[in-house]
Amino acid sequence: MADEMESSPVIWITGASSGIGAAAARLFAKQGYAVVLSARRKERLDAFAAEIMSEGGQALAISTDVTRIGDLQVCMEMIAARFNRLDVLLNNAGFGRLKWIDMLDPQGDIETQIRVNLLGAIFSARVAAPFMIERCRGHIINIASLAGLIGMPTYSVYAATKFGLRGFNEALRRELHPWGIQVSIVYPGGVETEFSQHTGVQRKTGYKTPEKFRLSAEDVAGVVLRLTKHPRRQVILPGYMVGILWMNALFPSVVDWLVENRFVRKEREIKTSTIHEET
Ligand SMILES: NC(=O)c1ccc[n+]([C@@H]2O[C@H](COP(=O)([O-])OP(=O)(O)OC[C@H]3O[C@@H](n4cnc5c(N)ncnc54)[C@H](OP(=O)(O)O)[C@@H]3O)[C@@H](O)[C@H]2O)c1
Repeated sequence: MADEMESSPVIWITGASSGIGAAAARLFAKQGYAVVLSARRKERLDAFAAEIMSEGGQALAISTDVTRIGDLQVCMEMIAARFNRLDVLLNNAGFGRLKWIDMLDPQGDIETQIRVNLLGAIFSARVAAPFMIERCRGHIINIASLAGLIGMPTYSVYAATKFGLRGFNEALRRELHPWGIQVSIVYPGGVETEFSQHTGVQRKTGYKTPEKFRLSAEDVAGVVLRLTKHPRRQVILPGYMVGILWMNALFPSVVDWLVENRFVRKEREIKTSTIHEET
């Protein structure tokens, strides 16, 4: 145990090959963490690990698909063998297919989103938790989305995965607290990453989060780092979104009206009469 206390802290990041995961890896490596980079694109991870090591950091790249429990078990075994330590699991791997329900492919869009965003986070925690419980130490941080707090059109399945992650996070937090293990969740709004390349969004209005409101991957990574220093149950960012979430909770019919009239009808060119005739 003495060796463990003297060694560098270790963070395992799923989805470390780009975006928030990559930004978190850079930040934690600079803070003296050994970073375990996992994702499917091994070439990217290897190049990234080499970059971190050339700057004096410690990095281990492991090819992992979060939907495969076997991959995750191998990853955990490699972490145990190499470091015998795991301080933080950052459950970050995920993607969104932001299309209308009638346009979502049942397997490629619906099932895969649920498998990666929800099952992947559950599997990763399942694999890391025994190691943390044994040592009575660790922190699991789940990257959700504002879509885990408010449901918007075209986000139906993505929201289902992130609402699911929220329930998983809350139960797990209460379950693991007696062992001194922290469990936190981050709900970011739009972040400038490769995420938008995979959404399949084709909007008539061309609507997207205005640039000035978009977060950077580094903003989210900074929040994750602060969570490890000052653990909290959840972080919503940007902070002003809290007001909109309260409005949705207290006056859902106002939000329904705004969404229908400002977004749904414009995007799908539906007339009110058509909607009312059909319902
Ligand atoms: N960008 C946003 O606007 C935004 C907003 C709120 C929340 N988020 C959440 O933030 C997280 C990170 O997204 P990002 O914005 O950083 O997007 P990103 O740049 O596209 O990164 C997604 C990461 O997930 C990995 N991944 C995807 N499928 C995987 C699988 N089956 N197994 C293992 N890894 C997998 C990708 O790696 P490989 O392809 O190499 O496997 C990649 O490293 C996601 O959970 C997302 O839902 C994003």
